[in-house]
Amino acid sequence: MVKSAGRQASSKAVKKVHLKTKKTGNNDTTTTTDEAEWYSAESNIASLRRMMKKFTGVRDLSCLDLFGASGGIKNAWGRHRKKAELYDIKKYGLKHDICSERGFENLLQLGLRIKPGGVIVAGPPCSLFIFLSSSIHRRSRRRPWGNQEYRSVRLSNCIVKNMTTFLQLMSQRRVHFVIEQPFGSQMFDLPPLRRLMSDVAAIRVTTYMGCFAHKMKKRTILAGTLPSLLSMERSLRPQDRKRFEKNRKKFYIRCDGKVQGTKALQSSADYTPQFCDALYTCWKEK
Ligand SMILES: C[S@@+](CC[C@H](N)C(=O)[O-])C[C@H]1O[C@@H](n2cnc3c(N)ncnc32)[C@H](O)[C@@H]1O
Repeated sequence: MVKSAGRQASSKAVKKVHLKTKKTGNNDTTTTTDEAEWYSAESNIASLRRMMKKFTGVRDLSCLDLFGASGGIKNAWGRHRKKAELYDIKKYGLKHDICSERGFENLLQLGLRIKPGGVIVAGPPCSLFIFLSSSIHRRSRRRPWGNQEYRSVRLSNCIVKNMTTFLQLMSQRRVHFVIEQPFGSQMFDLPPLRRLMSDVAAIRVTTYMGCFAHKMKKRTILAGTLPSLLSMERSLRPQDRKRFEKNRKKFYIRCDGKVQGTKALQSSADYTPQFCDALYTCWKEK
């Protein structure tokens, strides 16, 4: 069902689909699928389990770079001659749309190829879970699903719900996972994800992308089941804080009394090679 990544990437047809991608106004949260067709993995869990049972393929992957358009994680594993695949709508369009039935089934087929002890590194779209967009999503502890009058908020919820079902199914196959989110993201308050984190006794660490050569300090949460995840914990020294304060203007501007992200902020989601290498070492230590 899932063709080789190389063939997908070079296909013109895939590029066309990608152009049709419906943006939500938040660059990292997209779909190619009409809302009436959005897939609910949770509602189809019985047939997904049947699909899993039928799998007779080889478990040849050490890692899945989920929502990893930059390919940083896949490349890091590749540098160590470990087989990894990447799943992201930005790279492969409809075939990798977690909100479509076909896209989800393709994800499942990739997941089934992960070896026991392998890892899924997931950086799901955060833009509708963070403070900067709080006037739109209006999420709170008591209202974790947020203001669902907005399609963009419903879409961000759909992506996380399907990711959660996928991680739940994979955890039952002795596959580890790590979810990366900016500190303060309200994603972990969504009930299905909160339940999963509790069921798998997930570890949660705070780190800074700035400690892995990122231009911003980016306080970050890593949460998941990698036994050595604590080794990713970092704190900032006072001199580093000053350096990041200087860079701040490149990423945020004040407009009408409000703080807004610049274009540079959007590309700041890409992992640095240093972060990916550190995560590889962390996985190897497991
Ligand atoms: C915050 S970015 C993560 C980038 C990652 N840190 C990297 O280094 O590539 C979120 C990613 O989710 C992808 N994405 C958004 N909606 C998606 C969907 N419906 N299905 C699959 N991927 C999606 C975006 O294309 C984007 O690359």
